[in-house]
Amino acid sequence: MVKIEDDREGAIEAAVAALEAGGLVALPTETVYGLGADATDPRAVAAIYAAKGRPRFNPLIAHVPDLAAAETHGVFGPTARALAAAFWPGPLTLVVPKRPESAICDLVTAGLDSIGLRVPAPSVTREILARLGRPVAAPSANRSGRISPTRASDVAEDLGAAVAVIVDAGPCPVGVESTIVAVLDGRVTLLRPGGVTREAIETVIGRPLDRPEAASLAVDASAEGAAPLAPGLLTSHYAPNARVRLDADRVAPGEALMTFAGLRPPGSAQAVALVDLSPSGDPVEAASRLFGALRDLDASGAGTIAVVPIPEDGLGEAIADRLRRAAAPRP
Ligand code: TXA
Ligand code: MG
Repeated sequence: MVKIEDDREGAIEAAVAALEAGGLVALPTETVYGLGADATDPRAVAAIYAAKGRPRFNPLIAHVPDLAAAETHGVFGPTARALAAAFWPGPLTLVVPKRPESAICDLVTAGLDSIGLRVPAPSVTREILARLGRPVAAPSANRSGRISPTRASDVAEDLGAAVAVIVDAGPCPVGVESTIVAVLDGRVTLLRPGGVTREAIETVIGRPLDRPEAASLAVDASAEGAAPLAPGLLTSHYAPNARVRLDADRVAPGEALMTFAGLRPPGSAQAVALVDLSPSGDPVEAASRLFGALRDLDASGAGTIAVVPIPEDGLGEAIADRLRRAAAPRP
């Protein structure tokens, strides 16, 4: 733990070095402390989930030093730009279409083609982000199911062993998470209430927020703070074109295979394509490769992706949850 009032430069250098090395860093924001990792490094992002013990892969917010950096990862039309100009740096997250060329990994977006971006207020954190030169994915720095941390000591108690550095900038002034607003397909919707009020947002956009489509209104209870997610957001979770067949103990002709820990069920040699999520059986590595593997196997053109049983310990639970959703019947 480094207090910035004692050694600001030391804190910045230690945080940047740890993030560059793929480590986890607790970063102060005006809302809550974040558990940060390089958003372009799938292993580092998988380590966030492992440290939090999150049972599901929710999309994470990517933190950037300014609007210019945000625009290299997301598409900002006039409305998103007006909101950014009004509230950044500050407790607002904007969900916008992700640029295809953005290096932010699929594990951050949970495979969505949108991205949640935010510019946090503390200058020490923006300095770290600017020097790193890459976005930082960061959920609140608490173990899943625990209360969001608003002091560095909260993080130390809950996650001290998992983080390389805790940057202590004192208590978080806002203390509740950022407001999340989606600006997608010409609609502006509130996904999570937070540090910026609905009224303040409506004043900037000059009209009422769009209501999430009634039929599609769903509450993602898994999201901490029970973020109401417009259903579209749930259904647009990356679903392969191929059918996904779980608990496969053999590979049928024409199928692609997603396997784990070196397992080669009968028929593997004839698989149209094969990805071993982690030959060594490491669930963190497997999580880091999951979305890319789904895409690659899908791109093989196979009608079905057979998936071997994957042990549900540690991150295996979140992997299994994601695969079950990929395998669920679709309309
Ligand atoms: O104040 C905050 O926002 C804090 C600090 C650390 O920045 N972070 C935070 O992260 O609260 P987290 O992971 O607890 O919540 C992120 C929320 C999730 O509910 C997720 O569903 C939503 O952001 N989210 C992120 N990207 C999204 C996307 N592309 N589409 C829909 N929802 C998204
Ligand atoms: Mg949280």
